[in-house]
Amino acid sequence: MRLEGKVAIVTGAAKGIGAAIVEACAREGARVAALDVDGAGTEALGVGANGITVSAVAPGTTATERVLKARTPEETRRVAEAIPVRRLGEPGEIAEAVVFLASDSAAFINGATLDVNGGQVMV
Ligand SMILES: NC(=O)c1ccc[n+]([C@@H]2O[C@H](COP(=O)([O-])OP(=O)(O)OC[C@H]3O[C@@H](n4cnc5c(N)ncnc54)[C@H](O)[C@@H]3O)[C@@H](O)[C@H]2O)c1
Repeated sequence: MRLEGKVAIVTGAAKGIGAAIVEACAREGARVAALDVDGAGTEALGVGANGITVSAVAPGTTATERVLKARTPEETRRVAEAIPVRRLGEPGEIAEAVVFLASDSAAFINGATLDVNGGQVMV
């Protein structure tokens, strides 16, 4: 388990990418604060000192229910074709990047934005 002893705070946690991140972080042993306007309360976010790092993941087009509903299958196929890996991302793939950033392997990564998009921003 890569996140034992860690605390993960996830906003937008009720659905889609956020829900996948909560699941992945919990599976890896983190204590997870899951926040969402859809039913969850708010909690204080402590930032900056004593091993707390703050980084961001910038997802490319990811196959969540919201995104799939917003386009016809043909439009989705065209979007996928324009991405170098020729497919949309999966929520779990975005969640893996978050698990990495929250793990000890990324202890010196702070204030970074990690693009997870199959090369979508290269084109
Ligand atoms: N799916 C993609 O292709 C994609 C790509 C790039 C960026 N994003 C961004 O990632 C985020 C999640 O995308 P998704 O497809 O999983 O969306 P989603 O609609 O499936 O889930 C979004 C969740 O966020 C919650 N939410 C909305 N406003 C909130 C607020 N102010 N505070 C707390 N929670 C709030 C909603 O209730 C919902 O549960 C969005 O910000 C989206 O713009 C998504």
